[in-house]
Amino acid sequence: MSSTVHDIRGPANPLDRLGRPLHDLRISVMDRCNFRCPYCMPKEQFHEHYRFLKSQERLSFDEIVRLSRLFAGLGVRKVRLTGGEPLLRANLADLVGDLSAISGIDDIALTTNGVLLGQHAVDLHANGLKRVTVSLDTLDKEIFTRMSGGFAAVDQVLSGIEAAIAAGLAPIKINAVIERGVNDHTALELVDHFRGSPVIVRFIEFMDVGNRNAWRPELVVPSRELAARIAAKWPMHPVSQNYRGEVAQRWRFDDGAGEVGFISSVSQPFCGACSRARLSSEGKFYTCLFATQGLDLRAPLRAGAGDADLLQLIRGTWGARTDRYSELRDELRRGEPLPKKIEMYYIGG
Ligand code: GTP
Ligand code: 5AD
Ligand code: SF4
Ligand code: SF4
Repeated sequence: MSSTVHDIRGPANPLDRLGRPLHDLRISVMDRCNFRCPYCMPKEQFHEHYRFLKSQERLSFDEIVRLSRLFAGLGVRKVRLTGGEPLLRANLADLVGDLSAISGIDDIALTTNGVLLGQHAVDLHANGLKRVTVSLDTLDKEIFTRMSGGFAAVDQVLSGIEAAIAAGLAPIKINAVIERGVNDHTALELVDHFRGSPVIVRFIEFMDVGNRNAWRPELVVPSRELAARIAAKWPMHPVSQNYRGEVAQRWRFDDGAGEVGFISSVSQPFCGACSRARLSSEGKFYTCLFATQGLDLRAPLRAGAGDADLLQLIRGTWGARTDRYSELRDELRRGEPLPKKIEMYYIGG
């Protein structure tokens, strides 16, 4: 199959209208989640009668693998599995195994809330998963419970992280969404806990993803402010990106106790080097986290489309891409009403 892909792709991998290559593919494998974080799946709206996808509506592993091969043929080198909560998808390690056999894909990662990581870390690693990113917004039990929509699971997440370290997954990153007045005062505790360990904490500015999380600019703690608070306690210095287009800005502690990262999509947007494509669990291809429309790849897949047809669809969509929502946020929000954006739980961040 990989030779077919090679034969039918053009001499160059596609660039979008702003000259950006397609390098990362983020695949949501599951729209459900065992948490109800208010900034992502507020429980009043994602209640027990909420209609999630039926299992046959989600792409099968074979379909995901086929599309991933095609994406690899267009330049994708990195795949990240997301959800909802990806570990709710049965036998996820099998998918990891299939993806790691695809030529060209040299980095496979997973973003999880960590609750089920203890059960799956060994299997995932054995099947080729290299590293894992765990969402953990605070160590304060009460605030954690509020921020996860009622699930008192800090200890379970911490033991999931321990299991991941023991299984050899590295590096392990923590994603902490910071909301002013909710958990910003607990950020230093998170740093303190993981300093000197193999775990890298990254703080994410609260974003206006989707349409339901009641985002307001006042709730964002700009990374500069947070970095200054951290540096006042543990002096640190900026270090260069690991790769072009990395979303996190990295800072290393002067005393050698590791690093922290800041993802500042609101105060310092990074659309200029954005090479990320997203595939929803029902097979829609999106070119931005804030997209309002996606390209349905499942219908042609299930109608028997050949590789060349699918490649043409993907290439055409990427070639027409002009997205830079975070850079245009203020302007677009002033021009309300905005068309409905996709939701975080559905596209996985
Ligand atoms: P590494 O490969 O480890 O560098 O990380 P990554 O960039 O794949 O990180 P991850 O998926 O953990 O992204 C962290 C968070 O950054 C996501 O959950 C989103 O909240 C945010 N993020 C990632 N990509 C984008 C993006 O393209 N645009 C915006 N606005 N936010 C993003
Ligand atoms: N703003 C910033 N980050 C968010 N995430 C989910 N919703 C938001 C939001 N509104 C993060 C989660 C997780 C990743 C999938 O995205 O914390 O780490
Ligand atoms: Fe689930 Fe992650 Fe959304 Fe929280 S942020 S509800 S853990 S998908
Ligand atoms: Fe990429 Fe859209 Fe995020 Fe900008 S806002 S970095 S274009 S996903």
